[in-house]
Amino acid sequence: MPATIIIGGQWGDEGKGKITDALAERAHMVVRPNGSTNAGHTVVTDQGVFKFHLVPSGVLHPGCDCVIGAGVAVDPVQLLNEIDALRERGVDLSRLFLSDRANVILPYHPALDRAEEERRATHSIGTTLRGNGPAYSDKVGRKGIRVADLLDEAALRDRLELVVPEKRLLLAGFEDDATLDVAALAEQYIALGERLAPLVVQAEILVQDALAAGKRVIVESAQATMLDVDYGTYPYVTSSMPTAAGACQGAGIGPTQVDTVIAVYKAYTTRVGGGPFPTELHDETGQMLRDRGNEYGTTTGRPRRTGWFDAVAGSYAARLNGVTEVAVTKLDVLDTLPEIRICVGYRLDGKAIEAPPAVASVYGRVEPVYEVLPGWQADTSCATSVDDLPPNARRYLERIEELLGVPVTMIGVGPDRQQILHRPTGAAV
Ligand code: GDP
Ligand code: IMO
Ligand code: MG
Repeated sequence: MPATIIIGGQWGDEGKGKITDALAERAHMVVRPNGSTNAGHTVVTDQGVFKFHLVPSGVLHPGCDCVIGAGVAVDPVQLLNEIDALRERGVDLSRLFLSDRANVILPYHPALDRAEEERRATHSIGTTLRGNGPAYSDKVGRKGIRVADLLDEAALRDRLELVVPEKRLLLAGFEDDATLDVAALAEQYIALGERLAPLVVQAEILVQDALAAGKRVIVESAQATMLDVDYGTYPYVTSSMPTAAGACQGAGIGPTQVDTVIAVYKAYTTRVGGGPFPTELHDETGQMLRDRGNEYGTTTGRPRRTGWFDAVAGSYAARLNGVTEVAVTKLDVLDTLPEIRICVGYRLDGKAIEAPPAVASVYGRVEPVYEVLPGWQADTSCATSVDDLPPNARRYLERIEELLGVPVTMIGVGPDRQQILHRPTGAAV
């Protein structure tokens, strides 16, 4: 049975966790293919709020295997903390697996992240400071340390001897040497490796065996297309590939093994950190979206920047990822607005342009062209089917569907896992 990929269609925090949890009810496996603890995926159940950073959002479903794939950068301390906290809440983690090929975030990675952001000063990216960028730089620079290395003391020492002197140079003047002692690091990370060892597997084989056995596999990407290192608002991006193609790579599956790509979009737009955001609102409406949408980062608690739905960036993401279905979350956040804008075009220096430009400073000058739609000014949070939605809410969704060119099959009307409307492909909104 082919796999389903879930990706973010905007700048992150679209509700991928909630959509993954909803679909995982009928899945055998959820694989997290990319990112690190920079991600925060929320699932709200009658047991309370769960914020997942590395553990796949399918873990609340008994019988669903959860795999942290080779493309993830894993901070062992944070992973073990996350596991302990979930265990304390009674979550069964006996079906959690970790790829032996995943790269490891060591203490010098967050230190380098902080130093790099400080050095960039006014041009800082606004990273989550979790060491994500430096860890992926080491990975592609072929000096990363991988989970398998934590299980072999001699190999780990060798790797550390090679990379730590370089980190010392890079961090001179920024940090003391506490994070840069080879013997201390080796001792600490071998101990962490021992704790992680029961989870460690050749994850790509586990995933391939599941697919070969006809099991339902979901790949839950972190971040989002507009944060992709190639296609996002470079350099204001993350350091991995949060596209459907990147999800294949990180999970260890081929494009021919996928038949469904679900892109999750908020009914408006948010982003955290720096970088262009053409539809950003700096007014009361923007603050209203932040308040009603509780737009504060799941990982860092930072206020998220807010703005109108951007169908230009949205359809760019839909095309790049070969999206087959769209989930629109947080429709309820728009319930009070008398009218709602959608960005349907970009203008640059007075001329229409079709897609996000490559250069961030140019993208920063783009002017959005808006279409104004009537609001519905009614509570959608109690809707249990698409038929319960006010006509203007359906019209709004239909317009998003038209602009993205992909059917909307799921609609979020509140944070709770129950507050999701399913719509068969082809049915009227
Ligand atoms: P992710 O990173 O894509 O998984 O998204 P986050 O969990 O970081 O952010 C999404 C936030 O919106 C979380 O606080 C969710 O609980 C919340 N959320 C998800 N879907 C809905 C929805 O349909 N309505 C409302 N009001 N909140 C939602
Ligand atoms: P989820 O999976 C929103 C953003 C950071 C920053 C940029 C680079 O929860 O949607 P990094 O720490 O990755 O080097 O930061 O990327 N960012 C996210 N924004 N949601 C995320 O993940 C993000 N992960 C990274 O805010 O702008
Ligand atoms: Mg998030």
